[in-house]
Amino acid sequence: MVLVPYCRNSDVSRNIRDYHMNLPIDTFTFWEKTMKYIEESLANKTILITGGAGFIGSNLAFYFQENHPEANVVVLDCFRSGETLSNGNLKSFGHFKNLVGFTGDVISGDINDKELLLDLEINYDFDYIFHEAAISDTTALEQDLMVKTNVNAFKDLLELARKHDANMIYASSAATYGDAPSPQTVGCEAPQNVYGFSKLMMDHIARDFIKDADISVVGLRYFNVYGPHEYFKNSTASMVVQFGHQLLSGKAPRLFEGSDKIVRDFIFIEDIIQANVKAMHPKKSGVYNVGTGNPRSFQSIVDILQKELGTSYTCEYIPNPFVGSYQFHTEAEVASSKDGLGYEATWSLEEGIKSYVPEIRRLYETEVK
Ligand SMILES: NC(=O)c1ccc[n+]([C@@H]2O[C@H](COP(=O)([O-])OP(=O)(O)OC[C@H]3O[C@@H](n4cnc5c(N)ncnc54)[C@H](O)[C@@H]3O)[C@@H](O)[C@H]2O)c1
Repeated sequence: MVLVPYCRNSDVSRNIRDYHMNLPIDTFTFWEKTMKYIEESLANKTILITGGAGFIGSNLAFYFQENHPEANVVVLDCFRSGETLSNGNLKSFGHFKNLVGFTGDVISGDINDKELLLDLEINYDFDYIFHEAAISDTTALEQDLMVKTNVNAFKDLLELARKHDANMIYASSAATYGDAPSPQTVGCEAPQNVYGFSKLMMDHIARDFIKDADISVVGLRYFNVYGPHEYFKNSTASMVVQFGHQLLSGKAPRLFEGSDKIVRDFIFIEDIIQANVKAMHPKKSGVYNVGTGNPRSFQSIVDILQKELGTSYTCEYIPNPFVGSYQFHTEAEVASSKDGLGYEATWSLEEGIKSYVPEIRRLYETEVK
């Protein structure tokens, strides 16, 4: 069985791709499934990616560098400073290691800084803005900081987009749904925390803005994303990498009782990139789910990881302390996303994890051990 490391932009990745080109056709490779999602040239186009040193933003930056080297890509991120929130987690997770190999502009700055936004307005002429910067920690309790960063700064960035005539693609979230019933559908939200509330407020602002704007604005409600470059989100990274490292350290995986019935709509980073790129020219501005529509259990994650890592630990089951305030089933309604964006998930959980495992191993060797 061939394991294909996921590393998007480097000489190493090119060698891996060349190597896999020579393998039998039925051999699964990451590269067979990654592709350019738009054919148009982005020559003379300038792309701003806020939150570009984070998980999703850095993957987007490398997507453009690899597939559209003619584009001018500008990353804006406040990077991590060591400052923590009251829950003990970092205030921002941006990490330089997510951008090693990136050759575009990198700006360290805060989206709450109006002077910085004015500088961007004067010194650049953006064609597309991918807005990923946020307090992304769903357990953060600082309502003031959350609303300021996620909601208020978004309004300013929309005005920048209007002035530059730039299409806006921004990160909303499945957290807007809270405990709304499955399949989670745009228009039926019930956020349970200030993070979900902040993302829902962004969607309201976007809808209002679209009414008299000449640019397109698309909000993408990502479900549970996993994949390379998430490691530096620490304890807020997906359970895929967390279980992977538990197994590699020789520990039996610990799951909540009934984990074979607790399901989420897990989505591989490559499909998130697909949705973002397709959202550059939507059929219709609006808010769209980005999931698979095919929820899978936490038990499945562990089973797939054990298969790929060659381990066979007996799982340990612990009582779920969150019963009563816990989501047992998330499932994105995805037909509307296909209609409005032409987006459709292409990575199964098995394929995503298989492709990710070499990176999980590399991280274990270089960062965890
Ligand atoms: N990863 C997921 O499963 C998921 C699910 C739903 C929605 N989202 C949303 O997608 C976006 C990207 O998420 P991610 O997983 O890459 O998270 P992330 O934390 O890795 O990325 C967010 C980036 O924003 C930066 N940032 C935070 N505050 C900033 C500020 N004031 N100014 C400038 N930069 C700032 C951080 O340093 C970080 O690099 C976020 O908006 C998040 O809320 C993510």
